[in-house]
Amino acid sequence: MTSPTRRTLLKAGGAIAGFALAPRIAFAQSDRIESLIAKMTLAEKAGQLSCFGDAIRPPRIPFNPNAVSSNAAKQLADIKAGRIGMLFNGVGVSGARRAQKTAIEQSRLKIPLVFAGDVIHGLATVFPIPIAEAGSFDPDLAMRTARAAALETTAVGMHWTFAPMVDVARDERWGRVAEGSGEDTYLGQQMAIARVRGFQGSDPTDPSRVAACPKHFAAYGAVAAGMEYNTVDISMETLREIHLPPFKAAFDAGALTTMSAFNDLDGVPASGNHWLLTELLRDQWHFRGLVVSDYTADEELIAHGYAADGRDAAKKAFTAGVDMSMQSGLYNKWLPDLVEKGEVAEALVDASVRRVLTLKEQLGLFDNPYRSMDYAREKTQVAMPATRALSRESGARSIVLLKNDGDLLPLGKAPGKIALIGPFGDDKANLAGPWAFMADETIGVDIASGIRARLADPAALTVVKGSEVEKPIAGGIDAAVAAAKAVDLVILAIGEDQGMSGEDQSRVAIVVPPAQQALAEAVAAAGKPVIVLLKHGRALALSGAVKQAPAILACWFLGSETGNAVADVLFGAVNPSAKLSASFPNYSGQEPYFYDHRPTGRPAPDEGDQAYKARYRETKNEAMYPFGHGLSYTRFTLSDLQVDRELAWDGSLAASALLTNVGKRAGTEVVQLYIHDRVASRTRPVRELKGFQRVTLAPGGTQRVRFTLKRQDLQFWGEHGWTVEPGAFDLWIATSSVGGLRGSFDLARA
Ligand code: BGC
Repeated sequence: MTSPTRRTLLKAGGAIAGFALAPRIAFAQSDRIESLIAKMTLAEKAGQLSCFGDAIRPPRIPFNPNAVSSNAAKQLADIKAGRIGMLFNGVGVSGARRAQKTAIEQSRLKIPLVFAGDVIHGLATVFPIPIAEAGSFDPDLAMRTARAAALETTAVGMHWTFAPMVDVARDERWGRVAEGSGEDTYLGQQMAIARVRGFQGSDPTDPSRVAACPKHFAAYGAVAAGMEYNTVDISMETLREIHLPPFKAAFDAGALTTMSAFNDLDGVPASGNHWLLTELLRDQWHFRGLVVSDYTADEELIAHGYAADGRDAAKKAFTAGVDMSMQSGLYNKWLPDLVEKGEVAEALVDASVRRVLTLKEQLGLFDNPYRSMDYAREKTQVAMPATRALSRESGARSIVLLKNDGDLLPLGKAPGKIALIGPFGDDKANLAGPWAFMADETIGVDIASGIRARLADPAALTVVKGSEVEKPIAGGIDAAVAAAKAVDLVILAIGEDQGMSGEDQSRVAIVVPPAQQALAEAVAAAGKPVIVLLKHGRALALSGAVKQAPAILACWFLGSETGNAVADVLFGAVNPSAKLSASFPNYSGQEPYFYDHRPTGRPAPDEGDQAYKARYRETKNEAMYPFGHGLSYTRFTLSDLQVDRELAWDGSLAASALLTNVGKRAGTEVVQLYIHDRVASRTRPVRELKGFQRVTLAPGGTQRVRFTLKRQDLQFWGEHGWTVEPGAFDLWIATSSVGGLRGSFDLARA
């Protein structure tokens, strides 16, 4: 096993020694697997295609309503009887060994179990939620945190993570935006690739690596009105251009599994969708890995009105292409009968069993069934100092400086007396964010502790809660205002708690909860400079005193090292460089809001008369803070745009600009490349991200930032599939999705 050194975890590029290598993943025919299939009964085959929440080592915090509908004794009996192929969300080596021993010593065919889990942004050591980390615009960072998460996951007896979540999500009302990479497809692709590589590495038999599971296939991010589990009704263009590319990128990067989504897609539930799971995924994309259903998604075909009963649901899900059924038990119950009655071909069942066994073989479980179940690693490789340092680094690198009027930040060495006000000041319960139910809360650093550690006189910090997250505290505002009056500076730590995003947490209004907004208004009226530290799982629509505060930091959920990461940025040890991966609208009612919308026949002008133009009565269409926005403590300028006049059909186009650090500190800028196809047979987005680079410059430093475009970067889904049309394109090199240097070029005819 690669030994996890400080270097491999912390050094940029260090964890990616295998990054350039093609993954060593075999899909070749295996005699061992074929001989097992030949011996298996139909019931044993159905067993391999069934998985359940781990009842032998149930999760500390139950997070899915019926996650553990069994008990240890019953589950061990089921393992012995060959009725379980995989268990999920159990933690701990001893329980894993117990279950595995039962499988390989007491079941008839001695097929090892595989253990999976939702390790979305860290296990015991928690990293920033993915939407935040995507804002680093740094795939290498995402790869390193995924690699570190794999290390902890395999130290506690798991082999497979249900991640990365690669759903492009453009409606911030949806709670699960927290788990993805934001509103943009290109950024989502880069993060998907990085995370798959970070989890799986180049050799999945390595017992410190986990199989990746890009999810939820497909288009779950497009649920109507941002309502959880809602219907998805989108055009083929939107599906192909926006929602599918991160999946394709993840599969091309070698992801071994995927998960079929809960939602329907244009009238056909994804988990019963033959076109999606077989024609597209297998026949067109040649995906050879395993498809597991989302949690009871096969059974939910009944509620969708797509299947009559459990038997029908099992048949429809299975024949559509769901290899493995999660939690419903429907495959165990009905697959043998469906085969016996001639309604499902046994060869199809064998193909799915082959995929499950192939995954187990790829992970090395036949040769080493106790892989990733090592007591010594469980003691030494969880919450290691290097992993916690990476959490701190990724935390600071995910904070977006939205606003910094009058250069209020960074705080100097002697910032005077500070009042830290709001429900999240010394709160440890909301550091991790959603989907971190295995977090080690004992290592969490709250904001107050992080700030205090920076102060020469720790007593200069007063912490006042002022309000609960969603309801006032009696006398809370008065206490907060009194504290504000007594200090030189106020830091407001406000926003959402971690229960307000994630699965099942859609909101109608994406605002700071009213009780905290009232607190912010009263505290701001005390007249002291206010820095807002936002905690949130989604982009928010800010208003009133929060919006007006001179400095605002989007801090999301940063994980175990939240307080240190926040203090690193507040005091300037880290110069912020993150950008928004999701636009902050002016009003909730603008959702779904995304920068790369299509033009209309009546576009609203930036200035001037807006009558009879595409807009709302109450606001301009622009975002409060757009995708790609994020400030630094230094200032950067872009100049001297150079763009080739023409892109030859099989050629490449060079575009570049000079980036200069005109401020007084070293800093990193994310330089972004956008295009727009002026005239095409389909309306094309007003801008589309096609590249980005992180560039670090010393004060006064300058660098030419170069991008290359090829014809394939200009393609879109047209009447007959992917197409590229010659003609004129706009191009921007920019530091946000708004503004920048604008040029143009022509794509020449073939
Ligand atoms: C979620 C999945 C998750 C699964 C297993 C479902 O409710 O939608 O993302 O992987 O549960 O915990």
